[in-house]
Amino acid sequence: MTEVMKRPRSVDLEITSRCDARCRYCYCMNNEGVAYHDLPAQRWLDFLDECGRAKVMRVCIAGGEPFMRDDLFEIIDAVVRNHMRFQILTNGRKVTPEVAQRLKDTRRCDSVQVSLDGSAAEVHESMRGVGSFEPALRAIKTLHAAGLPTTVRVTVHAQNIEDLPNIARLLLEEIGLPSFSTNSISSLGTKAKYAGLFMTAAQRLRAMQVLATLDAQYPGRIQATAGPLAEFKMFHEMEFARLRGETIPGRGRLVGCGCFHERLAVRADGAYAPCVMLPQMILGYIGQDALLDVWRNSDALNALRQRIYLPLASFAECRGCEYLEMCTGNCAGTALSDLGDANRPSPEGCLRQFRDTLHTEGLSCHGTETTGYASTNAQGGFDMSRGMGYNAADGAKREEAGR
Ligand SMILES: C[S@@+](CC[C@H](N)C(=O)[O-])C[C@H]1O[C@@H](n2cnc3c(N)ncnc32)[C@H](O)[C@@H]1O
Ligand code: SF4
Ligand code: SF4
Ligand code: SF4
Repeated sequence: MTEVMKRPRSVDLEITSRCDARCRYCYCMNNEGVAYHDLPAQRWLDFLDECGRAKVMRVCIAGGEPFMRDDLFEIIDAVVRNHMRFQILTNGRKVTPEVAQRLKDTRRCDSVQVSLDGSAAEVHESMRGVGSFEPALRAIKTLHAAGLPTTVRVTVHAQNIEDLPNIARLLLEEIGLPSFSTNSISSLGTKAKYAGLFMTAAQRLRAMQVLATLDAQYPGRIQATAGPLAEFKMFHEMEFARLRGETIPGRGRLVGCGCFHERLAVRADGAYAPCVMLPQMILGYIGQDALLDVWRNSDALNALRQRIYLPLASFAECRGCEYLEMCTGNCAGTALSDLGDANRPSPEGCLRQFRDTLHTEGLSCHGTETTGYASTNAQGGFDMSRGMGYNAADGAKREEAGR
């Protein structure tokens, strides 16, 4: 049994499932597990007092769109009153200079994250809906001008891959943010609802190539705990080890999840969940079940914490895989939505499947076979095994950072 922290370091709060947007890929709007009614503010205030007593250090306020709640600042006041710090995620629509100033005045706001998927309305709005670009861009500028730590999340998909260099230029050079983060559309909750939204293997490879190039151009300024850049670093590390005939210490088991030992999530209906990526796994309800009791004694949570002991070699789909001793088995959330079982390796992060799918399309990401897509690409070859400035330590970070 691994050592469990006495309390979660951080709690992710989905304080509403309402939103003034309808992004095509949004897991909130797609997930059968999420209720469409909000809890009264008092329930959140009581829970935040409980978090304070339990000495939780920070919360992440998300949704839905947190600014849909008229009582948002009452909830934020409870965070502050309980000596916690917070991060808040937003689509930016309701961010004004006054709102930015109020957030800043709390002196406890670690960051505000705005979602932006394109450098121009056409690209951003292809998934996030007409009229969503200008407010998001304005919010980023407003928050940054107010001196708040402002981050941006770019969700990568087929329509914005070629715009990524423009997005990087806009955010890092024109606006001057220190960094931004990337992920990609993944199946949270019910996979069938994402049909047609995922990138093909060739598009994924291209996204990796574009992001790896940008990462070299802007060292340390593009972050990723999931999506093409995180996968590129992970796959690169695995392929590099394979070519050298090495293994990666600590791998070869389901060690891909880092959050279960540090974080807990609460859905909009008050249900505790192990992680925002596992909303369908209900561990109890705030108000009814004590935070620390759920954290320490939930059977389902403790079972998830044990997945790190499950060897990949025990899964039929992994047998004979050349990456067996280098692989982490990836995200439990996508495993649950793809396979109905959180305690299996996730196909979405499987390098062998990715490589085999590329091969069927006449493409390759292999160090020894830089052909196909790579050779037809104007930017030259893409060789996952040869250093693009990465080292083994970079890839390993995902285990700690989670999604
Ligand atoms: C659910 S939103 C909540 C906060 C706020 N409404 C916003 O859009 O930023 C948080 C982040 O999740 C991302 N997201 C939503 N659905 C996703 C999915 N299926 N796969 C990956 N990211 C997703 C959004 O792009 C956004 O950056
Ligand atoms: S703005 Fe956020 S919560 Fe709303 S639909 Fe888009 S991703 Fe989902
Ligand atoms: S088959 Fe996929 S998930 Fe299994 S060890 Fe190989 S790369 Fe990892
Ligand atoms: S890897 Fe996925 S399921 Fe695991 S903790 Fe991170 S986001 Fe959650």
